Amino acid sequence: MAAFSFFMPPVNHMGEGCLEGAMNDIVSLGLTKALVVTDEVLNKIGLVADVTEQLGAKGIASVIFDDTQPNPTCSNVAEGLTLLEENECNFVISLGGGSPHDCAKGIALVATNGGAIKDYEGVNVSSKPQLPLVAINTTAGTASEITRFCIITDEERHVKMAIVDKNTTPVMSVNDPELMKGMPASLTAATGMDALTHAIEAYVSTIATPVTDCSALKAIELIARFLRRAVGNGADMEAREQMAYAQLLAGMAFNNASLGYVHAMAHQLGGFYDLPHGVCNAVLLPHVQAYNARVRPERLADVAVAMGENVEGLTDVEAAEKALSAIKRLSADIGIPAGLTELGVKEEDFEVLATNALQDACGLTNPKQANLEEVIAIYSAAM
Ligand SMILES: [Fe+2]
Repeated sequence: MAAFSFFMPPVNHMGEGCLEGAMNDIVSLGLTKALVVTDEVLNKIGLVADVTEQLGAKGIASVIFDDTQPNPTCSNVAEGLTLLEENECNFVISLGGGSPHDCAKGIALVATNGGAIKDYEGVNVSSKPQLPLVAINTTAGTASEITRFCIITDEERHVKMAIVDKNTTPVMSVNDPELMKGMPASLTAATGMDALTHAIEAYVSTIATPVTDCSALKAIELIARFLRRAVGNGADMEAREQMAYAQLLAGMAFNNASLGYVHAMAHQLGGFYDLPHGVCNAVLLPHVQAYNARVRPERLADVAVAMGENVEGLTDVEAAEKALSAIKRLSADIGIPAGLTELGVKEEDFEVLATNALQDACGLTNPKQANLEEVIAIYSAAM
């Protein structure tokens, strides 16, 4: 096994009501003026005001940037950076789900490294630590609040750029399920399936280790047990809390074992058609894993067990089939569309999508490397 490094923020606050304790920790960072990167919805419902008031009470000034789009763009990063510089903010707080966290990472990285976010596409391109970033999470979830992954859409090329950079790791994450209970059912479903995808892709990854396996399997188990409940009743705080832990565990797994073709292919759908990340992943997940089952059925057999399937007496290949059907059943139960056709994906775009997918850094650790025809065949199967 190759050498292994484990990345995550140095401080991570978890559990119901943890935001209060996190506020004291933010004060102890000794920083005075925050750019709060968020989105319009969270600003409108008053969540942003709640947080900035709490910051104000602790003597921390804040400036709000709420123009983050669902798939944050290079322009979003540039606009946020201008606001940060005009107001001489000395740190960044992201408040929301993956989109504000990724946008905030882009802003904080360019603030210290210069240039434009496009310059940092790829793995560890930056040379300096970003401005300190505190990531307060409201979904369960992309786990972007703990990862070194930053996905920004280049609106000129219609491509989602994968920026995988240790310098984008936040200095602190906050996962307070109190902030998640307002998530609508569809967002709960999509972000929950994103987390399941993180865990499964990390588990079958070519660079998985016992450390990432442990996080991934526990995440899969919790998602299979609690996602239906969290979607069915947003006020079910046990389900919300367990999903918050599950998505964090899935994040710990993929932040260190990376991902695979589900993300590489979903990024293209997101960039090309501006579709929600979690939904694209959910639809592609069983089809990519059917492809991976050709080489790693034993790993997918473990996924089946973690999802609560009875695999007694089955071969690994048969047990892997059980994992695929369990994923499809979970998706259907929480209202995820059955195929890409429903999302408006067109067959004539497959060649471009597949070509770009094969260039996405997330695909490098998929257990079986595909050629263009094979990626097109997976998109086709997912229609
Ligand atoms: Fe994801």
